[in-house]
Amino acid sequence: VRKIIIDTDPGQDDAVAILLALASPEEIEVLGITAVAGNVPLHLTEKNARIVCELAGRTDVPVYAGCDAPLERPLVTAEHVHGKTGLDGPDLPDPTITLAEGHGVDFIIDTLRAEPAGTVTLCPLGPLTNIAQAFNKAPDIIEKVQEIVLMGGAYFEVGNITPAAEFNIYVDPEAAKIVFGAGCPITVMPLDVTHKALVTKDRNDAFRALGTKVGVAVAQMTDFFERFDKEKYGSSGAPLHDPCVTAYLIRPDLFTGRHINVEIETGSELTLGMTVADWWRVTDRAPNAMFMGDIDAQGFFDLLTERLARL
Ligand code: BDR
Ligand code: CA
Repeated sequence: VRKIIIDTDPGQDDAVAILLALASPEEIEVLGITAVAGNVPLHLTEKNARIVCELAGRTDVPVYAGCDAPLERPLVTAEHVHGKTGLDGPDLPDPTITLAEGHGVDFIIDTLRAEPAGTVTLCPLGPLTNIAQAFNKAPDIIEKVQEIVLMGGAYFEVGNITPAAEFNIYVDPEAAKIVFGAGCPITVMPLDVTHKALVTKDRNDAFRALGTKVGVAVAQMTDFFERFDKEKYGSSGAPLHDPCVTAYLIRPDLFTGRHINVEIETGSELTLGMTVADWWRVTDRAPNAMFMGDIDAQGFFDLLTERLARL
């Protein structure tokens, strides 16, 4: 069983990623969830994280509030994709779970210090502010991280918030630079992968057909999320970005990629937040990330549907 901390800005796709992890106790133990400002402001992302745990019937998972703004920049949000609440679509009740006491960054630090080295995986699904802040505050935890598996960046698929940058990296490029430069093993799910994980009509129907509270809510979330990508990119459905991270922990064989060097642009206004991925290894810069490029999309949706049915 892999022990993980989910760092997240829910977000419908974040919600599905969390549900997949909570539905897979044989492979994944969720030690806690830390919320970060991203898709919507922090007071909504932390609330949404609690709503999702409650939906899964997992009131035992601690949810912490983390950073409410990027390290050095004003927050950029994505209500145009996720709606005003960040979790538009289903009509879910306010959570009865209360926020865990303490700051999300301290939870990350304390957990990594308390657990044996190399046994905790960090799963960032939003801007990397909390993780970078934890590394800045307690550099001793860096070598204790087993792996960071994150959603962010792009290579061939370039940007979804600017022509050059993917949202999570763009929102806090300074944080991303710290994380990619930290030296821990990193696995990245960029848009190149997630834009292949599309919720087509059949896949959406399969969620709804589960007939459970979770199945129906996920169908409603992906319905809502879909309208944006369909209109904007003419794609056949919503890309389920963040669930690629938790699916990787269960079925790494669904993904292929390359261990390469990835640097983050923090200077240029034009390409701010770009993940400069040396896919063709044209530099001699040392590889620092396993950058995924492909996914077995049907295998991924089969796994997701099978697991969601358990909740
Ligand atoms: C990422 O940005 C957010 O809108 C999604 O939740 C995902 O984490 C995709 O670029
Ligand atoms: Ca997210």
